Amino acid sequence: MARQSDSYVCQSCGAAYGKWAGRCEACGEWNTIALEASESAPPGGLGPKPSKGKVIELATLKGGGAVEPRVMTGNLEFDRACGGGLVPGSALLIGGDPGVGKSTLLLQIAAGLGAAGEKVAYISGEEAPEQIRLRARRLLLDDAPVALAAATALRDILATLKAERPDAVIIDSIQTLWSDALPAAPGTVTQVRACTQELIRFAKSSGCILILVGHVTKDGQIAGPRVVEHMVDAVLYFESEQGRSFRLLRAVKNRFGAAHEIGVFEMTGAGLREVANPSELFLSEGGEPVSGAAVFAGVEGTRPVLVEIQALVSPSSLAAPRRAVVGWDSARLSMLLAVLDARCGMDFGRHDVFLNVAGGMRIGDPAADLAAAAALLSSLFDSPLPRDCVVFGEVALSGAVRPVSQADTRLKEAGKLGFSGALAPAGAADQTLRVDRAETLLDLVAWTRARPQSRHRQTG
Ligand code: TYD
Ligand code: MG
Repeated sequence: MARQSDSYVCQSCGAAYGKWAGRCEACGEWNTIALEASESAPPGGLGPKPSKGKVIELATLKGGGAVEPRVMTGNLEFDRACGGGLVPGSALLIGGDPGVGKSTLLLQIAAGLGAAGEKVAYISGEEAPEQIRLRARRLLLDDAPVALAAATALRDILATLKAERPDAVIIDSIQTLWSDALPAAPGTVTQVRACTQELIRFAKSSGCILILVGHVTKDGQIAGPRVVEHMVDAVLYFESEQGRSFRLLRAVKNRFGAAHEIGVFEMTGAGLREVANPSELFLSEGGEPVSGAAVFAGVEGTRPVLVEIQALVSPSSLAAPRRAVVGWDSARLSMLLAVLDARCGMDFGRHDVFLNVAGGMRIGDPAADLAAAAALLSSLFDSPLPRDCVVFGEVALSGAVRPVSQADTRLKEAGKLGFSGALAPAGAADQTLRVDRAETLLDLVAWTRARPQSRHRQTG
């Protein structure tokens, strides 16, 4: 039988059980429950009797002191993704697949903080100082004022931080740390949670900025310590598409700013380059317009990004024609095809349909519905859409085109990038752009049909 202080903990979500089970009821994962010694005796157990609490001081919401300004790293894309710089005393988790460039990014951020006059420490549990120096040399950052250490013992790290009092500390990665107060192995939920807790306590009490690196499993979860996501103030994911050199830093949680902000980078031989105008990555080059391409005016967080959506509709001899999507949700494609069929009589039933978001971007914004539908119809009719026009709007099951958020931002960005027209839901207006209204999908069909036929048929 397990000892009183032992419990069975899911290594994925941290749920605790009294006995072992094959599947975690909380997160649905299989084979993730393992025996772990718990951090403290259970309440009402054999531990020391709780003493009387001491009275805590209550304060006003406004507070007395001045608000500490945010710390800028000098890296505009990173600062933007963090919601406008780093907040002193806050904890930030950067998650991402191995090899995506987390260590590279954070070394550059450390150098940026150092250059801005902040005292910054970079503590790696994965690489030796010599390896980090090698990378710094490649990035031409070897002169940056960054204090370097290789350590995994939490006790040593905390002692060092308390002695050195840095303004910011980077821990690469949280999964390598271990606390000798616990019998559990490094990387287990118990260890990761305890180490994070200690580090956050230090950050809150000292005003030090804490940046943690976390590894992500293949299904997009930060391995093991999903619990960490709840403990930190901000969670950012560093993502890449297979075979692409650009990287997205995406805020999924931020207590001090808007979530869904993105920073865009490109991985080059000399580290990560900031991409100030991401639309350049997701729009194809100029040239003769081809059918099946529509430019979607998207918004990621507060940032407008124009993306080309490409469709190919070709006659199929298969009983169940093919449907394939890249960077888009396949259920959403099925819905669009069903609505186009039911509300406009556009039958794709004898066609293979492929939908691709250019540049390796992934779109989850429902405002892209209209652009995807435009690309599909353009390919079906073999009628190119005007190159100088952006499209956005959410499509309802009734075939109505519904207004979307931040229409002004979308139109303004399109105008800034030289577009002169837009197809948008009712209510959207702009001073420089000619805006065509789409109230239902039938308007879209008419708008798409009004184009001249392409000279080269795109399908055989
Ligand atoms: P790294 O920062 O070690 O990734 P992570 O910490 O997320 O595991 O980045 C590793 C990859 O980045 C590696 O495949 C090589 C590439 N890279 C470059 O392309 N250019 C560079 O200047 C650097 C430092 C790395
Ligand atoms: Mg690394």
